Amino acid sequence: MPSERRYEMRIERTIVDKLGLNMYDKVSAAVAEIVANSYDADAENVTVEIPLGKALATRKDDGTIDEKGYEIKIVDNGHGMTPEEANNLYLRVGRDRRDEQGDKSREKERPVMGRKGIGKLAPFGICKTIVVRSAGGKPKNGKFEVSHFKIEYEDIMRREKGDKGIIDPYHPDPLEDDGTYDAQRGTIIILKNFYAKRVPDRDTFARQLSYKFAQGLKDFQVAVIDIKKESPADPFTLEEVPLPIEEETRVDASETPVEDEYGIKYTVSGWIAMSKKPYKDEFGGVRIYVRGKCASITRDFGLPAGFTGEFVARSYLVGEIHADWLDDEEDLIQTHRQDILWDSKLGQALQKWGKEIVKQVAKKGKGPRRKKVSDLFLEKSKIEERAKERYKNESIQEAAVDLGKRFGQFAHEDDLEDEDYVEDFSNFILDIAPHQYLVDTFHKIREKAKDGKIDMKELIELFRATHIAELTSFGQIANEKVHTIDVLEERIRDHATQESDLQKILETAPWLINPIWQPITTNQQFKTFRSAFEKWYEREHKVKITTSTQISGQTKRPDFIMMHKNNAIRVIEIKPPGHTFDTTDFDRFNNYVDSFEEFFNKHPSFKDDFPNKARFTVVTDGVNLDSKTKKAWKSLMDDGTIEACKSWEELLRDTKQFHHDFLEARDKFQENEI
Ligand SMILES: Nc1ncnc2c1ncn2[C@@H]1O[C@H](COP(=O)(O)OP(=O)(O)OP(=O)(O)O)[C@@H](O)[C@H]1O
Ligand SMILES: [Mg+2]
Repeated sequence: MPSERRYEMRIERTIVDKLGLNMYDKVSAAVAEIVANSYDADAENVTVEIPLGKALATRKDDGTIDEKGYEIKIVDNGHGMTPEEANNLYLRVGRDRRDEQGDKSREKERPVMGRKGIGKLAPFGICKTIVVRSAGGKPKNGKFEVSHFKIEYEDIMRREKGDKGIIDPYHPDPLEDDGTYDAQRGTIIILKNFYAKRVPDRDTFARQLSYKFAQGLKDFQVAVIDIKKESPADPFTLEEVPLPIEEETRVDASETPVEDEYGIKYTVSGWIAMSKKPYKDEFGGVRIYVRGKCASITRDFGLPAGFTGEFVARSYLVGEIHADWLDDEEDLIQTHRQDILWDSKLGQALQKWGKEIVKQVAKKGKGPRRKKVSDLFLEKSKIEERAKERYKNESIQEAAVDLGKRFGQFAHEDDLEDEDYVEDFSNFILDIAPHQYLVDTFHKIREKAKDGKIDMKELIELFRATHIAELTSFGQIANEKVHTIDVLEERIRDHATQESDLQKILETAPWLINPIWQPITTNQQFKTFRSAFEKWYEREHKVKITTSTQISGQTKRPDFIMMHKNNAIRVIEIKPPGHTFDTTDFDRFNNYVDSFEEFFNKHPSFKDDFPNKARFTVVTDGVNLDSKTKKAWKSLMDDGTIEACKSWEELLRDTKQFHHDFLEARDKFQENEI
């Protein structure tokens, strides 16, 4: 039996915390580090034995851990380690293997994934004991020397300072096979004594683990064996489960190289696209691989809010790109390995590149996504059925469905879950369907009139079907809308425009912001809310705020405007055209956000009237925030508190797009007049 002190590990007690290894709280992440080491050791086959879908331990009511006695075992057929190698290579924390041994694996010359010399500690994020049994080195009589020992987290922590005030090195205990010889080489790592962690189910675990590694690693296969007793899953090998993507949104990463500040180009391979359905979990996002190992998952390359299609991009963006150069010369992967160092020069270059690609993908993705949203709207609103109920004339029914298709695409998916929203939207479409029919038919008649083929019968039928009297009022509405859009455009372009002018326009014509927000008749509940909120705010903050432009004799510009729509208070915060929303603006804005939250918390009965509480729309020609506020901003965007952030031009473009028919009809008529 070899000496008890044969193995030595110099390791600080605080290392686990320092390295952020407790961030390795996912079983798959810890297992992935061990598998990465097998790859570096030239293994062709790795087997992971694990209880799929089982809790490894649970926490009891009194806070103690109820350990279930499982062992996770990772077996590889790589070149293994002799006891000497285990000591010199494995047990050295923080050894840069590429400095010492180059960046290629020993036999197969694979570009190695490891670099920092800490991956072996990753399991301490989920368990307290790691057992290593490895056979390797030069064969003696055809056999390989075995190294067998265990590392105990608690023993590492329990060491006291010695005489000189220095903590002794840690000596892992050798185990029974240590120093023996084996016919096979390779390594077995066993994890036990788990924290309260759960192994995900088969599909989740398979996907989590497979995503840690790039596809097509040569001669490398990972098999998973389910060790739970009752109805274990069949053994399987890891292969990527592809996410269904919208093919036409796919951008080939290799078409555009990353360029650093000196103009040096770095090739990226892989692809970025939009998935068919949104992924809010870890499976969404673009995975960035370095030497075949996933170094980061990003949803936006740190792209600031406010670009076209961003809401979509956040939940639909997927991809797989390879950028080995990220860690060629310098180590640009964060110590805790959850991300790359975005602040480094190359990180910044990649970020810049990524932003461009994301924009391309988002642009390409607009079409397919709109179609999907439009289909969803048709389904939820049952517009066809309702049009049939409401209008006898088939052409008007068709016009309604057609409008539903075209306007439905501008809805937000989340909003389509909201019955009130769908209801309002459908009513709006049903209301304007006869108008649409009228416009269409006028077009047709005019075309015919040009050839002198006007058909009186058709004309009479048209007037009858569209109830011409009713339509005069629709015409009026359309006319007013067109006029309002013109006024808005003028004001946006006019440098002398006051913020309050714009507030006034938006408050009287909220459909400019969202087409289905019709002007509201202020109801009693809303009036009560407004005055209660304003009074409360004044008491709390010792300043008076104004939340509407429609108060007679008022001289002060409103701080923001507020209305009620679909069970929520909608707050509209605007900045004048050309103004960038900065950190000071954010602080003020955030104070309003907090105030609404606080108000609802302190006066819960208002939640009965407005169950969706307050939602915010920001109109500004740019957002420029420091990194701290950026985070806060992002989280308000992500949780939907800020439901939209648009520039004035975007607002104008969207509203013009939506009222395209009206505008076009107006233009045609004007043309004819000239
Ligand atoms: N399965 C294995 N077979 C053979 N050698 C191994 C195996 N696992 C680890 N080693 C050796 O132990 C060393 C330390 O592993 P560790 O994961 O801590 O560091 P690394 O892989 O070099 O770098 P990184 O921290 O980036 O993963 C490896 O460099 C390798 O020499
Ligand atoms: Mg490693």
